[in-house]
Amino acid sequence: MGEISTTELQERYLLNTYAPELTLVKGSMSWVQDDRGREYLDFASGISVCNLGHCHPRVTEAIQRQAARLVHVSNLFYNENQPRLAQKIVEHGFDGKVFFCNSGAEANEGLIKFARRWGRKTGRHRIVCMEESFHGRTLAALAATGRAKYREGFQPDTPGFRHVPFNSVEAVEGAIDHETAAVLLEPIQGEGGVVPADPEYLRRLRQLCAARNILLLFDEVQCGMGRTGEIFAFRHYGVEPDAVALAKALGNGFPIGAFMVRRELADTFVPGTHATTFGGSPLACAAGLAVFAAIEQENLLDNCRAMAGLLWGKLEQLRDKHSIIKEIRGVGLMIGLVLQAPVKPIIQAAAEAGLLVLPAGENVLRLLPPLTIDNREVEIAIERLDQAFETA
Ligand SMILES: Cc1ncc(COP(=O)(O)O)c(C=O)c1O
Repeated sequence: MGEISTTELQERYLLNTYAPELTLVKGSMSWVQDDRGREYLDFASGISVCNLGHCHPRVTEAIQRQAARLVHVSNLFYNENQPRLAQKIVEHGFDGKVFFCNSGAEANEGLIKFARRWGRKTGRHRIVCMEESFHGRTLAALAATGRAKYREGFQPDTPGFRHVPFNSVEAVEGAIDHETAAVLLEPIQGEGGVVPADPEYLRRLRQLCAARNILLLFDEVQCGMGRTGEIFAFRHYGVEPDAVALAKALGNGFPIGAFMVRRELADTFVPGTHATTFGGSPLACAAGLAVFAAIEQENLLDNCRAMAGLLWGKLEQLRDKHSIIKEIRGVGLMIGLVLQAPVKPIIQAAAEAGLLVLPAGENVLRLLPPLTIDNREVEIAIERLDQAFETA
């Protein structure tokens, strides 16, 4: 009897929570290969995770070296890498302190717990969140998530969350009550369709939260780590939150999450209030340190901005050619093409043409290429997208 295929094994042994179509077996920078030897230009980056491309040599080398030295010790001991990675995050963010965990959902859970503990002295625990937001699949992150379809079937929702329309300060103001501890949002909504916050909205929200003594929490799990041309997307707005969550690209594929809070608030947590076994392991932090080293030493933020300029220009030409593209939105290399029709057939046609792209909701095509892409790869992506729009 022949060997059982990966797809058959998956069907037999894995819970049916995903619907993949390709089996990818290896990758190098912007390119991945499937089990039939077909090459794809990857403009999905593992959903904004492999921001430095696949198997970036610096990250691979750091993981290999650290794996041979020390993998895990628990947080009952210091490890050399954890405070150094925290220092990097602070240097790029704001004066504060960091907690490491393992995923985006867990980072947001941490933010939520932080806000509740901070608010407890004044009897406040509620968090105002945004419609169409996405914060992860664990129960509190899910309750914070505005996209109702993700909560469907898992009720009752964890209490303490209210949802208001994104980009409306008035709506947030109307939702605040005497029990509100925080406002949580993605500066650029990702899963909700690549929707950037209006600059005026974020500025006024910052003022509102300061005036009402409410924490402003940003989820930069998808839009952070250089994706927009800045390490933190909030830099584009000149607005700093009180705390921010990171994950995805922080380890370029090695699982790691983090949240950072302003230094004045940091003693809200003391030993015993929050913890994780795996968070901030020497190995995960070695990957994170290599990511920052690559971004800084290879000028990847500059490359991101330059390639974004090129790509946006070419996408505008594509929009003029294909009337199915209604609008292009996003920041830097976090781009959504709003379509007049369902996005799924276009995604399939793009894969057929050798380009991997993502949906964001029913009718937004999302492009999240590595920050390392070059002119030639932008050209190839545009040719293949053009082909996908022609054939779908
Ligand atoms: C903005 C945002 N927050 C949180 C998450 C959840 O992250 P994870 O899947 O690592 O739990 C995601 C994942 O897509 C995200 O885009």
